[in-house]
Amino acid sequence: MHPLEELRDAALREIDSAADEQALDAARVKYLGRSGSISAWSDKMKSLTKDEKPVVGKLLNEARTSVTAAIEHRAEQLRSAKETADLANIDVTLPGTPHEIGTLHPLTQMLERSVSIFRRMGFAIADGPDVEDEWHCFDALNTPADHPARNEQDTFYLPDGRLLRSHTSTVQIRTMQSQPPPIRVIAPGAAYRRDEVDATHAAQFHQIEGLYVDENVSVADLKGTIEFFLHELLGAETEIRFRPHYFPFTEPSFEFDVRSSAIKSGKWLELAGCGMVHPAVFEEVNRARGDQAYDPAKWTGFAFGLGMDRLAMILFDIPDIRFFAQNDLRFLRQFA
Ligand code: DAH
Repeated sequence: MHPLEELRDAALREIDSAADEQALDAARVKYLGRSGSISAWSDKMKSLTKDEKPVVGKLLNEARTSVTAAIEHRAEQLRSAKETADLANIDVTLPGTPHEIGTLHPLTQMLERSVSIFRRMGFAIADGPDVEDEWHCFDALNTPADHPARNEQDTFYLPDGRLLRSHTSTVQIRTMQSQPPPIRVIAPGAAYRRDEVDATHAAQFHQIEGLYVDENVSVADLKGTIEFFLHELLGAETEIRFRPHYFPFTEPSFEFDVRSSAIKSGKWLELAGCGMVHPAVFEEVNRARGDQAYDPAKWTGFAFGLGMDRLAMILFDIPDIRFFAQNDLRFLRQFA
């Protein structure tokens, strides 16, 4: 037997019996390291005769290959033995750490369903602050200082004169201030009023505001948009009724009601206010912008404000609006 073969066999025995990673690494250094005994044979090659060189070269290669493979094999064995030992300490019968998955609040579900229908019609989402100034909430919306909606008893005022917005119509103004027509946006969000709190009135409620401004927009566009939305939301057989109404910021103005098999009572449900944007609103926006981007002779538009809470109460069969804000998990879990 050639000494290289003896060396190889010794290495394989040592590797096989290496008890841990350190022992294995020591064996690797000893035989394959830069000054290891197998490596030393590479240096010896130079001094060999022409006949010996190919024989020893071949043996050297074989020795390196088989020792390297043996090291990898043993390393893998040691790794999996360690893993098995680690796992032995784990009690797989112990109950795990529960990850409770929450559910969306019924109002959030209601808003998301509604928003996705408007998005399919090409409406983008617009946003504005809940804490507003009087100008965005009232003046810009053609609501003069002596209008009853501005009464201290009806709205929450901050000491600095700002207020909690009493409707999402503020976002109409903010959107028109920041971009020229055409506009097609919805603005879902909270609004606040100093209502007497009872089963159907809360100090905070939720609306989806809509604003559509373009050339030649008419009441027919308003009706078509609302009808499509309600048919998608409540079913194709839903009936919709527009009634003349008054809002300072639209002319003409309407309220609309729905009757649908999705609404158990079988009664008409009042859902929203809407109308054609009042030219005075465009004028006030122009004044604030300092341009004529919303020239009422060129642009027309419709707007609407949909109440979400009452709709959610009816569709989810919720008897009291106060449940929405009480964070009682027994209530919320029912809408998973
Ligand atoms: N802002 C009104 C409210 O909260 C609802 C409303 C009426 C919104 C008519 C509109 C509209 O955009 O055109 O009572």
